Amino acid sequence: MEHRTLVSTRRMHRRFDPDRPVDVAVVRRALQAATRAPSAGFAQGWDFVVLMDPADVQRYWGTTRRPGPPDAWLRGVMTAPALVLVCSDPQRYLARYAEPDKGWVDRDPGRWPIPYWDVDAGMAALLALLSVHDEGLAGLLCGVPPDRHDAVREAFGIPADRRLVALLALGHPAPDGDRGLRGSASRGRRPLTEMAHLGAFGRPFPS
Ligand SMILES: Cc1cc2nc3c(=O)[nH]c(=O)nc-3n(C[C@H](O)[C@H](O)[C@H](O)COP(=O)(O)O)c2cc1C
Repeated sequence: MEHRTLVSTRRMHRRFDPDRPVDVAVVRRALQAATRAPSAGFAQGWDFVVLMDPADVQRYWGTTRRPGPPDAWLRGVMTAPALVLVCSDPQRYLARYAEPDKGWVDRDPGRWPIPYWDVDAGMAALLALLSVHDEGLAGLLCGVPPDRHDAVREAFGIPADRRLVALLALGHPAPDGDRGLRGSASRGRRPLTEMAHLGAFGRPFPS
C-alpha cells in the first residue's frame, strides 16, 4: 500500500474474524517491520512474546480479565487469534549507554529525559501494526492492566526486568465490523492547526 494511504487508513480494530487464524508468516513480517524501528543508541531493547496457540491466548485473557462476564469490548478483543506482548528492556539501554561512546557508566536512569525504552517499543509496535494493516489484516494496541503485569510475566516466563509496554491483538477484520466498540475514535481527530506550533507554542503552523 502506498505510504500515505497506509497511514491514513490505519485504525484500531476491536473485533476480529474468529474463524480465520493469522498466518505465522504475517506475524513474522510484522515483527521484522517492528525491528526496523529507531532506538536510542540502537539499543533495540524490545522483546515480542507471540501467542498464537489458542491455549496461550486463553491463558493471557484468563490472567488479565476481571471476574464476571466480559463486557462488549473484551468480547470483541478476545476474538483475536494472535496476541503479541511488546516488552521493553531498560537494562539493555543502561548497558548500551555505559559503553565508551556514550559514557554513562553510572547507569543512572535519571540521566534519561524520558524512558526511551518504552518510546522505542511503542514505535516498534506501530510499525508492526502498519505491516499487518498493509497485508489487509487488523490490529489493536492496548495496555496490560497494571495489576496484572507480574502475573502475565509469570504466566509466559517473561523476566522480571521487562516492562509490558503494550499488547497487540491481531487478526482478520470481523466480517460484520466492530461498530459500537470504537468509543474513543468517535471523538474525531484534533486539527493540525491546534497541535502544530511554528516558532513558539501557540503560534499557528500554516495550514
Ligand atoms: C498507548 C495506547 C493505548 C491504547 N489503549 C487502548 C485500550 O485500552 N483500548 C482500546 O480500545 N484502544 C486503545 N488504544 C487505541 C486508541 O483508542 C486509538 O488509537 C484511538 O482511539 C485512535 O483511533 P485509531 O487508532 O483507530 O485511529 C490505545 C492506543 C494507544 C496508542
